[in-house]
Amino acid sequence: MCIKAKLASAFDSAAERLGNRELEESIKSLEVTCEDIESYIKEPEHLPYGRNCIYKNEFIEAVIIHIPADRETFVHDHGDSIGCGMVVEGELTNVLYGDSEGLLQQVSQDIIKSGDFFHSWPGDIHSMKNELPGRTLTLNLYSPPLTHYKTFK
Ligand SMILES: [Fe+2]
Repeated sequence: MCIKAKLASAFDSAAERLGNRELEESIKSLEVTCEDIESYIKEPEHLPYGRNCIYKNEFIEAVIIHIPADRETFVHDHGDSIGCGMVVEGELTNVLYGDSEGLLQQVSQDIIKSGDFFHSWPGDIHSMKNELPGRTLTLNLYSPPLTHYKTFK
């Protein structure tokens, strides 16, 4: 089954928002491989990374993220959405920021390896970077779909 069909079968009947644990379990059950997402990888256009929404309904959105070597996303939050992602290829550095009196300061940095998961909670401000010479690919799920998120430049 192709990745879009797997997502449809997992989420077409969703009737409410999903929690972070459910998002992680859902990604695990999809058993995603690089081959599954190869044809959905986008090159960066207006952003420093490529992003392709491959599934969306009222409660959930699935996005393939492609961060080329030495690139970093803008610092951003996720509005009212929670998020969970899995690194499908390469390695991701997830940088968390804290807002202290209007100034953003880095508070932590985690390396997420291929096959591992990362989570975003309401209010989290982060960026994702690829510090390796190869590409980084992730499959991210957001619930509900991203709206009203903020980018900090
Ligand atoms: Fe994010």
